[in-house]
Amino acid sequence: MPADRFVEQLNAQIANEFAAHQQYVACAVYYDALTMPQMAGFFYAQALEERDHAMMMVQYLVDQDSAVKIPGVAAPQTDFADIVEPVALALEQEKRVTEQINQLTRIAREEYDFASDQFMQWFIKEQVEEVATMSDLLTVVKRANDVEAIEDYVQRETAGEGADPTAPAVAGGA
Ligand SMILES: [Fe+2]
Ligand SMILES: [Fe+2]
Repeated sequence: MPADRFVEQLNAQIANEFAAHQQYVACAVYYDALTMPQMAGFFYAQALEERDHAMMMVQYLVDQDSAVKIPGVAAPQTDFADIVEPVALALEQEKRVTEQINQLTRIAREEYDFASDQFMQWFIKEQVEEVATMSDLLTVVKRANDVEAIEDYVQRETAGEGADPTAPAVAGGA
């Protein structure tokens, strides 16, 4: 059984991941309304990744016979000053999640909860990728002189990642 402290904090993280899902859907809808289909598609896909992160954590707790509390989530930001702001918000969100993942790993280690420590390792790697992706995208969005340059970049550089065989199982399959 995972440590109680870890279970409590992982349940809190499930809420954070679902909140990230909602936030990225809000970003996607913002770009969709501006007829920026590449940026919209990018954020719709990111949203699904966040949903999967939540469901990986659900599956882990189910597998470990630990309590799972499916949470309500805080409403996302839906109004943005300009086309840069959603990406800046996304980068801040990914940096915050990185801290949360690190904290979960720290709790697992403090509790000598080695299975939970190992479970967190994939998320550590994932956060390095997500912060890098959002950081690069923010640079491009700030630098671009026109919307088409941003759309071209997203189409060229953010094609689907493909299946990751090392990823934890997602509750409900998929
Ligand atoms: Fe995530
Ligand atoms: Fe993320």
